[in-house]
Amino acid sequence: MIRSPLIRSVVTGTGSALPVRRVSNEELAQEVDTSDAWIVERTGIRFRHIAGPGETTATLAADAARAALAAAGMLTDDIDLIVLATATPDQTFPATATKVQAMLGIADCVAFDVAAVCSGFLYAVQVADSMLRTGVHRRALVIGAETFSRILDWEDRATCVLFGDGAGAIVLEARDSDAATGRGILATRLHSDGRYNDLLYVDGGPSTTGTVGKLRMKGREVFRHAVTNLSAVLTESLGIAGLAAEQVDWVVPHQANARILDATARKLGLSPDKVVVTVDRHANTSAASVPLALDVAVRDGRIREGQVVVLEAMGGGFTWGAAVMRF
Ligand code: ACO
Repeated sequence: MIRSPLIRSVVTGTGSALPVRRVSNEELAQEVDTSDAWIVERTGIRFRHIAGPGETTATLAADAARAALAAAGMLTDDIDLIVLATATPDQTFPATATKVQAMLGIADCVAFDVAAVCSGFLYAVQVADSMLRTGVHRRALVIGAETFSRILDWEDRATCVLFGDGAGAIVLEARDSDAATGRGILATRLHSDGRYNDLLYVDGGPSTTGTVGKLRMKGREVFRHAVTNLSAVLTESLGIAGLAAEQVDWVVPHQANARILDATARKLGLSPDKVVVTVDRHANTSAASVPLALDVAVRDGRIREGQVVVLEAMGGGFTWGAAVMRF
């Protein structure tokens, strides 16, 4: 993608939100034919948060957005753009982003959802970055929020143990490139390949069955594609940014499976110490997983201003992508 040299999109705040209820593998094993040992060995997951009554994609998104705004020292009225990534909207329409807008009390802005499943946040980042760099918008909330627990088939042990609910958000601000002092998004790269629809999908929808449907996945094949596609797009986006893998301070990957994280890092020759891992405590929260992990690593002091941070994700479609930024 050709980038304007005049404007940079800089992350000025991060936030996240999780449902109150945290469920361990042992608790899950009381309802589902599985075990803590199987889940930990195959995935690295130990806990997930599950939304309760009154907790929805929009409420989690609004909480994450409030935290990101507070971190950025910004008021809700400063925001003129909301891009929300989700595959589990509160309603088929209107967009969950407009619901979040109302919850935050923003009278007027541009608000819409993007759907790219687990890569949704990367898609939302590229869309928001592009809109900010036109100069029309100045401050965006970019949110990934999901309640996958509501589209899981709890009879299917091969999928229901893998996912959790949550939301993460960033404030992305347009800065003149001089004022950005090297900070900002340096490269984004997205891909999709619709031939793989039936490896990871939901078996319902308003235009087909008229139902919401449940998640279906051929896990082994998804795994194989994930490592190949993610390492390729990481290499590609670092190339666009003109950076070598050794210059990366932190990789914040989509948190699907600890083995995917390890294999991708190994393939790129990246030290595992540079990879932010939260899959053990959040499980796979789809579009929420990257901003959730980013917020964890910002708040615990690992990710600091001026560092090179790379985000990456792959999900249903398939869709995949990466973003490189100087934080
Ligand atoms: N508990 C106990 N046993 C289980 C469970 C479970 N929860 N689930 C499956 N099994 C059993 C199966 O029945 C099978 O038993 P069998 O050999 O007697 O038939 C055995 O475990 C192996 O099943 P597989 O599905 O072949 O297990 P695999 O080693 O491939 O691991 C997993 C499954 C964890 C889903 C893996 O394929 C994976 O992580 N794939 C990536 C998928 C993913 O993370 N997708 C997320 C969305 S896309 C993305 O985010 C990148």
